[in-house]
Amino acid sequence: MYWCFASKETILCFFTLILIDVSHPDWSKINKHIFILSEAGKPIYSRYGNEEKLVTIMGVMQALVSFVQDSDDTLQSLVAGNRKYVFLVKGPLILVAVSSLEDSVPQLQLQLTYVYHQILSVLTGAQLEKIFEQLRNYDLRKLLGGTEKFLHNLLDMMDRDPSFFLESVQCLPIPVHYRDSIASSLQHAKTKSLVFAILITENQLITLVRPKKYNLHPADLHLIINLVNASTSFQSCESWLPICLPKFNDSGYLHAHISYLSEECPACLVLLSTDKDAFYELAESREKIIKRLTVKSNCIPVISEAITTNKYGLDYIIGSEIWHFLYKSKTYGQFVSPKCRPPYNTVEEQTRLQELYKYLHHRMHASAKPLKLVYRLRSQEALLGWISETFELYAVFNPLVSKTVAIGNVKRLMAIIKQEEDKLFIVNARTF
Ligand SMILES: *[C@@H]1O[C@H](CO)[C@@H](O)[C@H](O)[C@H]1NC(C)=O
Ligand SMILES: *[C@@H]1O[C@H](CO)[C@@H](O)[C@H](O)[C@H]1NC(C)=O
Repeated sequence: MYWCFASKETILCFFTLILIDVSHPDWSKINKHIFILSEAGKPIYSRYGNEEKLVTIMGVMQALVSFVQDSDDTLQSLVAGNRKYVFLVKGPLILVAVSSLEDSVPQLQLQLTYVYHQILSVLTGAQLEKIFEQLRNYDLRKLLGGTEKFLHNLLDMMDRDPSFFLESVQCLPIPVHYRDSIASSLQHAKTKSLVFAILITENQLITLVRPKKYNLHPADLHLIINLVNASTSFQSCESWLPICLPKFNDSGYLHAHISYLSEECPACLVLLSTDKDAFYELAESREKIIKRLTVKSNCIPVISEAITTNKYGLDYIIGSEIWHFLYKSKTYGQFVSPKCRPPYNTVEEQTRLQELYKYLHHRMHASAKPLKLVYRLRSQEALLGWISETFELYAVFNPLVSKTVAIGNVKRLMAIIKQEEDKLFIVNARTF
């Protein structure tokens, strides 16, 4: 057992022993646990189990954090056995991740930041500060009631979906002229209070229109994607709800009009307004958008087809040599990746694949010694990572493939991506 604070070794060791002791019975099957508590040590959320029953362990966590704070330091992480404990103190909240997976400390810190943003999306930063200023011992679960499913969903997605550690989004591949005409339909529906118009499907972006002076940060976009992914109600009706996008403005809400384009087309339209009374105005915008997409450009069938057949994607590249890959364009802040095929067709295998990518990503970004090219042979596959000024590439190969053949494959892959760039990525940023 070891930890990061030599001078406080004995006491931290003592705390860690308690932590392991109180947590022992149920933890053997859990790969990654997440806790949220208040600075006063009150339980707010636990990924598994009932947070009521975890009062003791949360108490120890709070004591650990404040013990280190008292000596003007910040507890970031400690390792005990095969588990990493990562701590993040944000405003009045303490977030803790306990993981026996490959995730590195920075990757776990990033996940905790996403979790924190998920809470802000419901409450706003301003409200959160105010609540705990007034009542240090407040039980925040009262205000978060009903939104736990979004936290659960976010955590499950982060274990399977590379967009989070890549800090970028994936787009639905479609020919550029269709994407342009979809974007024009969104642009035409501009109203006074409309700030962002976004069309997404199955966690992929189809298009996005924004004001000239604001960008939509990928972290905010992930919150919207998670919201849509975790809800079933948007399929049946037009919804209207407040959402705080912390990177855009962490002290106020935007108001989201959310609906699917049609019963046949699983594309979800999200219109974000600054005006809380703009529901009808945006419902009218939605009508206009659908009309244009149907009558003028016939784009809805194209979107549906792109979703169901993945006709324009890169799945055909996957074969006996290259098994899977992630390619992130740094220029566009977007990535492309094929659908998972065997052997990566089960949740377990997808999680394992994700672990390989996280290992590679961390190995290449490790601040002490970042690397540009990595090739590793593992028992079940060969891994190749390559980072340049403009892209990041992570690929998984048949373990019998030599490094030279793998690099040959990757070069061919990149030539295809270059050629199909305007189909795979949103290359023309649209503004209102
Ligand atoms: C939610 O995400 C999962 C993958 O994490 C995906 O299989 C599913 O289709 C998504 N559902 C919606 C409604 O976007
Ligand atoms: C952020 O939200 C607050 C509260 O609604 C508002 O007063 C402020 O003007 C907003 N800031 C920006 C940059 O929109």
